[in-house]
Amino acid sequence: MTHILLEKKGPVAIATVNRPKALNALNSEVLTDLDALIDAIQADETIRVLILTGSGEKAFVAGADIAEMARLSKAEAEAFGKHGNDVFRRLEQLAIPVIAAVNGYALGGGCELSMACDVRICSDTAVFGQPETGLGITPGFGGTQRLARLVGAGMAKQLIFSARNIKADEALRIGLVNAVYPPEELMPAAEKLAETIAKNAPIAVRASKKAINDGLEVPMDEAIVIEENLFGGCFETYDQQEGMGAFLEKRRHEPFQNR
Ligand code: CAA
Repeated sequence: MTHILLEKKGPVAIATVNRPKALNALNSEVLTDLDALIDAIQADETIRVLILTGSGEKAFVAGADIAEMARLSKAEAEAFGKHGNDVFRRLEQLAIPVIAAVNGYALGGGCELSMACDVRICSDTAVFGQPETGLGITPGFGGTQRLARLVGAGMAKQLIFSARNIKADEALRIGLVNAVYPPEELMPAAEKLAETIAKNAPIAVRASKKAINDGLEVPMDEAIVIEENLFGGCFETYDQQEGMGAFLEKRRHEPFQNR
């Protein structure tokens, strides 16, 4: 991976989009690297949480690469959109939780990348937005869909139609991010959250993610069946028996074992 740095701290992986000369903008190479990152995370069963951030102090990801997009034909643009959408969908469906630590501009494809993650936290310098209509295009890496699902159709339409960027406090108010930190506290907060998640039973965490993601895509009657199956699937595991056994015996549970 040329444009992604990957670091492991115990069960937590930290991936940094690293293309500073273009504020980490997503060209085809970065998208291919993100795909390779997902392969690497899937191949390592010891990783329980992934944190995604951007290099430098200015940007998480400043969007899809405008220089690459500027001269695309209709067919090429559709293929570029599919490339981004396919990679972001894989990220969204990764079995483990993904935390976006948004350290600056998250515009266009950058906002869309953060929305393909499970949880977004940001620095007070972060700026979110979908500026695409001001460039003559629609959002192309899932923004029309994920923003509407996250903040509601009315707010998503207002932001996308107006191409207006918003600061961290407004992103917090509309529910696009869960928490805002001073820049120096962002990564420690992301790591602390990741470590907290990593201590819980991994089978249960993964099943919870799948239940929420899959359930939101179907009617409630089907969604609760998805939950029932995943709930049942946690039983007879070592971690379920240890977790419940420890509660009943009034002791701390042993570290969960992912089995
Ligand atoms: N694509 C390509 N290059 C980009 C880029 C992008 N999205 N964003 C920034 N850059 C490059 C700039 O061209 C510049 O390169 P040079 O030094 O070679 O000129 C470098 O990064 C630094 O950027 P600026 O000089 O512009 O930095 P700034 O501090 O003045 O402004 C900014 C920062 C407000 C983020 C500004 O760079 C900007 O508006 N960027 C574009 C944001 C945007 O419109 N993103 C959406 C793209 S469309 C999209 O993402 C479609 C989709 O959904 C798939």
